[in-house]
Amino acid sequence: MFYRPEDGHGLPHNPFNALITPRPIGWISSRATDGTNNLAPYSFFNGVAYEPPQVMFATTSGKPDQTSGTKDSLSNIAETGVFCVNVVAFEMRDAMNASSAALPKEVDEFTHAGLTPVDCESINCARIDGVPAALECRLTQIVTLPGESNRVAFGEVIGIHLREDCLIDGLFDVTRFQPLARMGYRDYSVVQEVFSLARPDD
Ligand SMILES: Cc1cc2nc3c(=O)[nH]c(=O)nc-3n(C[C@H](O)[C@H](O)[C@H](O)COP(=O)(O)O)c2cc1C
Repeated sequence: MFYRPEDGHGLPHNPFNALITPRPIGWISSRATDGTNNLAPYSFFNGVAYEPPQVMFATTSGKPDQTSGTKDSLSNIAETGVFCVNVVAFEMRDAMNASSAALPKEVDEFTHAGLTPVDCESINCARIDGVPAALECRLTQIVTLPGESNRVAFGEVIGIHLREDCLIDGLFDVTRFQPLARMGYRDYSVVQEVFSLARPDD
């Protein structure tokens, strides 16, 4: 089949998310100016540069039945200029999901999801205790995209936490924690197997 998104897909569910898979999940922590911690998963997330290391995540109202307007993560980050990306292990999938609930801004999703906040080293923000890795980021820019409430936040990574048991012979070994990835619809995947390919010019 072929369809133009502006004409509709005619399928029971929008296939768009299932076409861009697997997506890493940036579990984004931020802090409001009154000190309230905030946490939410974002799968429109990725690394975008090595030197200096940079990441992005996108907030969107997505569906007509979702609340539009700025999400708490983005409004906090716009005000404070910092955020932290927590890496999601398979074993933390339920807490990750719980933290995606649409809760009032004054509710701390760390508490809601049963997670322990730890202060970051270089920014005024909490990270999640026990995650395999956490990236402390300074906001570089917020870009407004076409459509309602679609925005991308870019950040420079200025501090990186690695859990010691994930470092094997100097390499960050993802099989130690099994990264969770977002698929389409309500589906997820988990990385349990890894293989290597040498590049032609290696
Ligand atoms: C696995 C997963 C991935 C998500 N990815 C996104 C995303 O990329 N962009 C987005 O706007 N919302 C995404 N959401 C929904 C947000 O997590 C949800 O709207 C959350 O309540 C936002 O919280 P906040 O207002 O505290 O930022 C995702 C939810 C889940 C469970």
